[in-house]
Amino acid sequence: MRVSLSTEEYDALRALLARAAGLVFDDARKESMAYSVAERMRACGLREVSSYLRRLDDPNERQQLLDEVTIQETHFFRNPPQVRALRLHVLPELLRHAELNGRRLRIWSAGCSTGEEPYSIAMHLRELLPSTAGWDVKVVGTDVSQRAIAAARSGRYGARAVQLASPEELARHFVALPDGAYEVRPEVRELVEFRHHNLVTEAVPFAPSERIDLVLCRNVTIYFGRDTTRALMTRLHHSLRDGGYLFLGHSETLWQVSEDFRLVALGTGDAAAFVYRRLDKQVERRAVLPDRRTADEPSPEERRVEPRRAAAPAMPPAPVLVGVDTLLEQCRVSLAAGRYAEAAQYAADAAMQAPLRAEAFYLRGLALVDLGRDDDALVELRKAVYLEPERGFAHFLLAGVLDRLGQPVLAAREYGAAADTLGMQPADATAEELGGRSVRELAQLCRQLQHRLLGGQLQHHYGEEVS
Ligand SMILES: C[S@@+](CC[C@H](N)C(=O)[O-])C[C@H]1O[C@@H](n2cnc3c(N)ncnc32)[C@H](O)[C@@H]1O
Repeated sequence: MRVSLSTEEYDALRALLARAAGLVFDDARKESMAYSVAERMRACGLREVSSYLRRLDDPNERQQLLDEVTIQETHFFRNPPQVRALRLHVLPELLRHAELNGRRLRIWSAGCSTGEEPYSIAMHLRELLPSTAGWDVKVVGTDVSQRAIAAARSGRYGARAVQLASPEELARHFVALPDGAYEVRPEVRELVEFRHHNLVTEAVPFAPSERIDLVLCRNVTIYFGRDTTRALMTRLHHSLRDGGYLFLGHSETLWQVSEDFRLVALGTGDAAAFVYRRLDKQVERRAVLPDRRTADEPSPEERRVEPRRAAAPAMPPAPVLVGVDTLLEQCRVSLAAGRYAEAAQYAADAAMQAPLRAEAFYLRGLALVDLGRDDDALVELRKAVYLEPERGFAHFLLAGVLDRLGQPVLAAREYGAAADTLGMQPADATAEELGGRSVRELAQLCRQLQHRLLGGQLQHHYGEEVS
């Protein structure tokens, strides 16, 4: 059955899903919504969209529609830099903290989809803590989709879900079934608990006295509006203990969303993972103290927690509080590698820390232009030229954005400003992020574009070409 939705019907469905789960659907998703509605109408034996809209008064049907429209894309060991950070830094540190605090550990995979994320965490834990006797360790996976939670509880997966697992991990943590599927081993499953839970309409699924050590909320808020994400981050902040970690997805950032968390880098260079931390004053001070390890103590990366004979370390390993320069450097690396969403995030985090630094806004604008998001780039580039009017490259990018957005007069003015300010730079300078163009070449190009746009405007005005 094919269904086409009228504007009113689509608006009614959008409003319902925003209320029910905070989900935002833009116009581009109308077709996929129509497909989901057709699936549900077929299952209900209905032929009219209007009848189906009335059926949505039933909470069971609302749940079925949520199951249909939510995007469950996930797999084991997703996001290798974060996986490395978890294994080498975060989980060893959390286990050492737990060792000193009643051997209790709480991890929440919020928006866990079909369970690959919480099971992956439990697998890492099993490697660090082969026996949990005497420990109270819980990994809680929650999701708004009943269907996803049912799949997660079954613990069975196809080959695609495990494609990032090494042969050793496959052998250690899964049972290979005759039909080619993989089943998670019981010693991993016993650490994980699944619950149906709505992140937008329900309170945090832990007792108020329970403080969480690590929350993973990855690739979930990308479907929410900013206010919904902001409210959720406030709740996550309250639920984390001091020193607790928050992992977001690759393209998610807390820029303009929350200032409650600190961004920390775990690992170095391209392998670094950037994660958030609840850092209250005391931990923050300790975090910047030099590492007090003696020469023959293992590094934090080398340490395995062995609970029966673990001598508790005097303090947790120091996270690196990421400086603005590092973030901007990472942003440039991501831009050069064509990872524009990541670059935009680094620049956003830099801008959050240094709101008067024009370079952060310029680089974010550049990444957004590369992502085709001219409307958003416009805001960033305007800030960049406001903060630093001599930044010629920012004027150049801003001019292009204005031109594409149908503002030729403003675009011409920006090309003029670009030509003037670039003309003040050393003539042999180049801009790597603008394709390695020389400054002189770019200034000439800007002047030509300015004249062409002005010519177009005058032609429009007088009905004749101006040379
Ligand atoms: C793309 S998956 C992410 C899975 C996993 N976190 C990862 O990164 O691999 C997004 C999940 O968020 C869930 N979700 C969306 N809205 C939600 C809400 N309001 N409450 C709880 N989960 C929600 C969806 O059902 C879906 O399973």
